[in-house]
Amino acid sequence: MQNDNERSDGKNVEKSEDTNNEQPVLTNRQGHPVYDNQNTRTIGSRGPITLENYQFLEKITHFDRERIPERVVHARGAGAHGFFEAYGTVGDEPVAKFTRAKLFQEKGKKTPVFVRFSTVIHGGHSPETLRDPRGFATKFYTDDGNWDLVGNNLPVFFIRDPLKFPDVVHAFKPDPVTFRQDAQRIFDFISLSPEAMHMISFLFSPRGIPQDYRHQDGFGVNTYKWFNTEGEGVLVKYHWKTKQGVKSLTQAQASEIQATNFNHATQDLFDSIERGDYPEWELCVQIMSDDEHAELDFDPLDDTKTWDEEQFPLLPIGRMVLDRNPKNYFAEVEQVAFGTGVLVDGLDFSDDKMLQGRTMSYSDTQRYRVGPNYLQLPINAPKKHVGTNQRDGQMTYIVDTGGENPHVNYEPSSLGGLKEAPKAGKDHTPYVEGNLVRQKISRTNDFKQAGERYRTIEQWERDDLVFNLVSALSQCNQEIQERMIGLLTQCDAEYGQHVADGLKMNSEKSEAAQTM
Ligand code: HEM
Repeated sequence: MQNDNERSDGKNVEKSEDTNNEQPVLTNRQGHPVYDNQNTRTIGSRGPITLENYQFLEKITHFDRERIPERVVHARGAGAHGFFEAYGTVGDEPVAKFTRAKLFQEKGKKTPVFVRFSTVIHGGHSPETLRDPRGFATKFYTDDGNWDLVGNNLPVFFIRDPLKFPDVVHAFKPDPVTFRQDAQRIFDFISLSPEAMHMISFLFSPRGIPQDYRHQDGFGVNTYKWFNTEGEGVLVKYHWKTKQGVKSLTQAQASEIQATNFNHATQDLFDSIERGDYPEWELCVQIMSDDEHAELDFDPLDDTKTWDEEQFPLLPIGRMVLDRNPKNYFAEVEQVAFGTGVLVDGLDFSDDKMLQGRTMSYSDTQRYRVGPNYLQLPINAPKKHVGTNQRDGQMTYIVDTGGENPHVNYEPSSLGGLKEAPKAGKDHTPYVEGNLVRQKISRTNDFKQAGERYRTIEQWERDDLVFNLVSALSQCNQEIQERMIGLLTQCDAEYGQHVADGLKMNSEKSEAAQTM
């Protein structure tokens, strides 16, 4: 009988590496050279094919499993490698005054990073011209282990309680029956969520469609903490400021690009890195003392609010350059797993409820999406020693090699197992007390910052914001339209009036409405 790897047409077979041929040869995953990749093994040239055809079965069954579940949100993305370079200072002061996180301490210290940019709502092959927040997630491979900063291109969010996240996502995702994104479903939810007015005023302005991933800022959005060697903490917000300048698209410009290219942002990032035009961002923080700040008209833990930059200036702490494209999209961009819980010593959570809700969600979904050993994959593993005593599970690839004695996978032990690490300073031990309740924060102030945003953007941006809201709302029923106008009027009377005027003019469903 013919050998499995023999070509049936009798042509010369390629030699394997073992026979000193310099050209890399095709093998299967068992390392067997593949001599014929054109013809399955069959009984006679017309078939049938045989079941023991290992080469064919391995190839096709692996292909059958090529897709893993998409991210439930942020499914479409592009990524790149690069580095973060610390300034050693925060504004004019040494960074050590506020945080002992090692990656920031020394001027010029470089930390490798991987960044993934994304759109939020639609699937993995959806157009990159859609009105949607953009994800901006950064993994810092620090000497102390990984730090993930999982942010967006807009500084605020739709909701302030994590319990509402599945609802806001369902409202924006396609209708479960028609499978179309539906403005009526979106604004049904939004018009009953006054805290979303600030975010909506960003999203429906030109900032809701960035020109590409390089021309956008990034924001941590949630409030985090820093603490120093004395264990003293401050509240911080993170900002990535693009050195390329912020550039956005109007709906008309986006539609024009989408007509010919639905991958334009992925292409722009890849091509710019290939030609050596490396995108760069500066990382800045805003700092606030760690208390409730009763003097402010908003709660510093509320992610629907920005912190006034006059009062809490942006303090630069380093810069990031992206200078290397992934070698393989799936292995790196698809399988990378970021989470808000991934912090290093000197960085901490605040009591921001959204942040805590998010922290639970990311590693939970990644155990499902990628698998329980997702942290063993090269893109997710820290670039330092790992010693955990965690063992086994699907696709175990590495056994941590920390302890001297491979028989000891528990702690404490006197037989050469892993030991607890020494502390890097005093613990940060915030005091928490209160009744267990289901309650909104008291300073909701849902409209003021949205109104300020409306008044401070340029006239063409205001016009675009009103146009886009009118386009979307003209697809909604009158009750939803009225609720939205009521909310927008509370943000700014002119804002509400302009949207109302637009809707009256367009009470018939307009052609423009199709752009949503
Ligand atoms: C309670 C609120 C939130 C929940 C429960 C949540 C949950 C999730 C989940 C489950 C994923 C998919 C992760 C994966 O499959 O690896 C994800 C991705 C992501 N989320 Fe959130 N999210 C929330 C709010 C936010 C906010 C406020 C931001 C922006 C600051 C944000 C930014 C991102 C980004 C950038 C990604 C994509 C990360 C990547 O590129 O892999 N999320 N989120």
